[in-house]
Amino acid sequence: MAAPLRILLYRSDGQAAAWEAAFKAALPQAQVTTWVAGSADCDYAVIWAPPAELIAQLQHVQAIFLMGAGADAMLRFGAALAPAPIVRLGDAGMGLQMAEYVTHAVLRYFRRFDEYDRQLRLGVWKPLPAHERNDFTVGVLGLGQLGRRVIDALRPFGFPLRGWSRSSKDIDGVACFDGIGALDDFLRGTRVLVCLLPLTPDTDNLLDRARLSLLARGGFVINVARGAHIDDAALLALIREGYLGGATLDVFRTEPLPLDHAFWGEPRVTITPHISALTLVPEAVLQIAGKMQALQRGEPVADIVDRAAGY
Ligand code: NDP
Ligand code: OXD
Repeated sequence: MAAPLRILLYRSDGQAAAWEAAFKAALPQAQVTTWVAGSADCDYAVIWAPPAELIAQLQHVQAIFLMGAGADAMLRFGAALAPAPIVRLGDAGMGLQMAEYVTHAVLRYFRRFDEYDRQLRLGVWKPLPAHERNDFTVGVLGLGQLGRRVIDALRPFGFPLRGWSRSSKDIDGVACFDGIGALDDFLRGTRVLVCLLPLTPDTDNLLDRARLSLLARGGFVINVARGAHIDDAALLALIREGYLGGATLDVFRTEPLPLDHAFWGEPRVTITPHISALTLVPEAVLQIAGKMQALQRGEPVADIVDRAAGY
């Protein structure tokens, strides 16, 4: 009889119990444990924000699975990482949540609910003119699993749609731009910018003042990717100068967002605590368990992180 699979779990927030129970239910033959210093070695690690000590222990694993979609934090371990494949989550219920979050934010700006919220706090009853739909171009940075899902959710509302990615795309009804050389053209005329890029050396600090200034006057920024994509001070200045209308931010350079950060005091910045797409444990475990079984059969699996590309 084959030895049971050894699965080691770790989450920096200490919330691994639900994962352990779900893995035990999905793979009853496996030995599933949550890592503590001194834990035995494993065949597969399933982790999020691990300490360096755990990374050092994973030199002989068959694969490292991430409990999320973004691989940026893991790839920062660089040469300390095992050569084994790193497998991120592919959608796993996050696409629908991202579609809900971004659609809500776009419609809030289009229907001027952000302004009505501010008016109601002042007791002001004042209908505002409707925005012109054709002037409300939504541009999505990143046309991967989540970006595509967001585009599909926005389609029925009839906004002009555009997207930007590394490789060229052909998406029905979407003006597609690719590569850094096309970024300025993509930004120029975009009214609502949605960031759904992975954080890589190429996308770090991508949205600086010069690039944000290319957005249409009165534009909005929705960042649901990583805080380091955006220059905070530039974004805030453009909002305070009245060039941009506001921003909806779910991710920040430092999380939790420090209480003395200027975003907190700006009413045109909407802040959520990195919840735009939560990892759903049942979906995630089902996906990861299925991929482990595929690897055991010698089959390929999707969502292996390309270390050279950084995502
Ligand atoms: P994917 O890998 O499926 O898609 C990434 C997209 O970004 C691809 O279209 C890719 O281009 C594009 N891209 C990458 N690098 C560049 C570049 N240098 N220039 C232009 N385009 C680039 O990722 P997901 O859609 O699954 O996730 C995106 C990100 O969302 C994650 O990395 C994570 O950081 C964030 N996230 C945030 C969550 C939250 O709760 N806030 C939850 C989940 C994810 P190409 O198609 O050519 O490869
Ligand atoms: C992710 C995230 O990358 O939650 O999955 O940010």
